[in-house]
Amino acid sequence: MLDVNEVRADFPILKREVNGKPLVYLDNGASAQKPQVVIDAMNTAYSHEYANVHRGLHYLSNLATEKYEGVRGIIARFLNVADESQIILNSGTTEGINMVAYGWAMPRFEPGDEVVLSVMEHHANIVPWHFLRERQGAVLKWVDTDMNGALDAQKVIDAIGPKTKLVAISHLSNVLGTKVDVKAICAAARAKGVAVLVDGSQAAVHMPVNVDDLGCDFYAITGHKLYGPSGSGAIYVRRERMEEMRPFMGGGDMIREVTKENVVYNDAPMKFEAGTPGIVQTIGLGVALNYMMDLGMENIAAHENRIRDYADQRLAGLNWLQVQGHAPDKAAIFSFTMDGAGHAHDISTILDKKGVAVRAGQHCAAPLMDHLGLAATCRASFGVYNTEAEVDALIDALELCHDLFA
Ligand code: ALA
Repeated sequence: MLDVNEVRADFPILKREVNGKPLVYLDNGASAQKPQVVIDAMNTAYSHEYANVHRGLHYLSNLATEKYEGVRGIIARFLNVADESQIILNSGTTEGINMVAYGWAMPRFEPGDEVVLSVMEHHANIVPWHFLRERQGAVLKWVDTDMNGALDAQKVIDAIGPKTKLVAISHLSNVLGTKVDVKAICAAARAKGVAVLVDGSQAAVHMPVNVDDLGCDFYAITGHKLYGPSGSGAIYVRRERMEEMRPFMGGGDMIREVTKENVVYNDAPMKFEAGTPGIVQTIGLGVALNYMMDLGMENIAAHENRIRDYADQRLAGLNWLQVQGHAPDKAAIFSFTMDGAGHAHDISTILDKKGVAVRAGQHCAAPLMDHLGLAATCRASFGVYNTEAEVDALIDALELCHDLFA
């Protein structure tokens, strides 16, 4: 079992105050705070171990390369991928999904070919498919969530037709906390010869992920939500898909030979990693993932489920608050609106005065907001270091807010 006070002691920012109140950081869905080990590792990398990777035949370059390349194996272990050469390092999920759109989908989509996606996708898993629609006549087929914000995997499977080439689906909604039965979708899609891309940005933070068991073709993660640095991330690409995929960006490091007439690419995965990468960010991500694995993903999930149940029960007591999304076994992410509050931004501004940080707006999920019939929501998203006392602080701040609007 995880000792949340010990975990909190690892995160220096949690000791600070905001607006004269102890910080209650409930905006983990947007970006998570960093433990001292990550900050120290990045500091060490810049202070003592920095050089470009894969290039120099000198001590520091070799050291930086060793540390940077070691992260591929850490990510593979974190995602339960047996073969680490199926991990492409990048700056985060947005880059990963765009790489699939440009490198894998664009060469194989004909006008009328379909991408199946759910209405609760993040813009990072929508806009690249709109590019495909605008530029190549792809058709986007949307699957709705039900009244509880649950997504029926069978509905996704039923949406796969003869023209479907890809299912692009979130493993866990950043707005509703809904988890998706990706394994069932992958099995059905595979049987029909359809590829599946999973946006794992949120899921990988909150629960153990076993990519080999899920059977997907692409699984994207982003470092800054995983208690790691911004500008770090990775995508798993199944070997067969990697062979089908063409490089999305050209530049140094992804080539073996360049002449005036020709270019010979490096082997995968480096073929897909052009230019100087986020060296120190990636090293920091490796440390963050080791930190999470040391805590234990099962322990993290169990802790967050306790917080979810407590928050669920306390929020249910506020009959002037409408929580969006009650899918079974949802994650500790609560989006809500409040009777009398003009805009979600007003709620978050008042909560901020009490030191409670939440996000307000559309959460990069405008189609979901349309589906819910809402302009915006406020969102409290919990992480590994949050406590029941912080749920109480949120409730107190919401009560104050409601009194102000009443
Ligand atoms: N995807 C991030 C969020 O949900 C930015 O807030």
